[in-house]
Amino acid sequence: MAPKPLPDTRHVISINDLSKAEIETVFDVAQSYLTEYGDPNSHHRIARSSNLAPNFILASLFYEPSTRTRLSFESAMLRLGGTFITSADPATSSAAKGESLADSVRVIANYADVMVIRHPRDGAARLAAEFSPIPVINGGDGSHEHPTQTLCDLFTLKKKNKRLKNLKVAIAGDLKGSRTIHSFVYALARFGADIVPMPAQGMELPPHVDRRLREEFHCNFVPGDGSIDALYRTPEEPHQPALFAGPDFELSFNVGGPGGGDPIHRKKIDAVYVTRYQKERTVEKREGYPKIDAQFLKEPKYSHASVLHPLPRVDELDASLDSDNRAVYFEQAAYGVPVRMALISLLLGLQKGISLRKFEGGFEKPESLVYQQPLSVGIRCANANCIVHEPKESPYVRNKFHVVKNSGQDTCKLRCVYCETDIDRFFVASKKNKWFTDNTAALLHTKDQNIKDLLAFAEEADAISHGFHFRRHAAARGPQHESTKSHS
Ligand code: NCD
Repeated sequence: MAPKPLPDTRHVISINDLSKAEIETVFDVAQSYLTEYGDPNSHHRIARSSNLAPNFILASLFYEPSTRTRLSFESAMLRLGGTFITSADPATSSAAKGESLADSVRVIANYADVMVIRHPRDGAARLAAEFSPIPVINGGDGSHEHPTQTLCDLFTLKKKNKRLKNLKVAIAGDLKGSRTIHSFVYALARFGADIVPMPAQGMELPPHVDRRLREEFHCNFVPGDGSIDALYRTPEEPHQPALFAGPDFELSFNVGGPGGGDPIHRKKIDAVYVTRYQKERTVEKREGYPKIDAQFLKEPKYSHASVLHPLPRVDELDASLDSDNRAVYFEQAAYGVPVRMALISLLLGLQKGISLRKFEGGFEKPESLVYQQPLSVGIRCANANCIVHEPKESPYVRNKFHVVKNSGQDTCKLRCVYCETDIDRFFVASKKNKWFTDNTAALLHTKDQNIKDLLAFAEEADAISHGFHFRRHAAARGPQHESTKSHS
């Protein structure tokens, strides 16, 4: 059993765990820790020290290589007047002896006040959070998400471009395997930027990320016009906050005038975000990989574009750009310290009058019903790299899914609670009545207290082999409304 979290424990696993207002708060605090010196090419971004956290300890638990994320978290904790303990190499920790993450986290939570974790499995950070009574921050889990990198990315865009709303941001490279990209595109969509995907061959955004952009963040996918291939266009939403909408920002270089015109016809790209080929996460051959260099940026549409990269770079970002004033990737890395100082101090409730300890809403969507798979029967997460498939964790983790309504339809999909991969097609069975159906409305309309009667199966044959009979119209409005029509 997972332990009880401390009162007000708040975890940051996905960028969508933070509301837009909370992200603004993080940036306000980060700005207060930042001293910048004039010369952009010298050591120029200093996180001002404070003495807010003298008795606090950060645990950094890294099961994968890291330079920036781990060291900037540790530096942030030291600059807050706290200290850190670290497990930077799984080969020298109990993981090498076969210890589960669930056990390590329960132990380490007694040694520290806040924990940052990086792991090769998608969803590992969410599992860690379930077992941690102290705040867990996701420092990158498989190819799922990397929310604090996104905070650094947005903070950089805010400082460079003054706003995010209506920006046109190109994302280039391995869009499939890059966790930084997944957190980043959700944030861009939520803040009203348009996204121009420029994937390497076979490395498009995963289908569940693409679908969330369209269905939950209401992006319109518009085919290109010759100057770009395609665009996720974020709709105008009057309630989007003023963040990044500074008065000094000018859209006049874009066709259509300030704020006007169809974004697809605005020729200028405001930022290019490139990532390396995530060779450790893919079997995809590296073909047609974009290279961002002086030649690439010569195109007039990039004349004002900031160039961002979460780093490390390999060969997709040419070193000759380092002295180009569009390059902002070293600033982006430097901002990691003040941004993480802000996040840690807010999660620990150390800032006067403001805190992230109380959950203020995260991503603005209704709470979904959670379907928990009973033991060995039924559906499993479709993502082979999900933490639920890690043999070491199997005694501690169950397949669990959010029941997510399909937009405009009376059907639902199952979204893994850990890695957020969706399953669209599945069967629903009633344990009590012994039927099963392909009508997923049965799950969608079930009441919380009735959900334990339902079982989800990936295949019809699985349901039949467990003694269920097919009924096409069964429970279209929940198990209570069972029809008598049976399958031939
Ligand atoms: C990224 C990561 O680990 O996902 N690095 C980082 O944290 N800045 C990007 C990468 O490894 O390519």
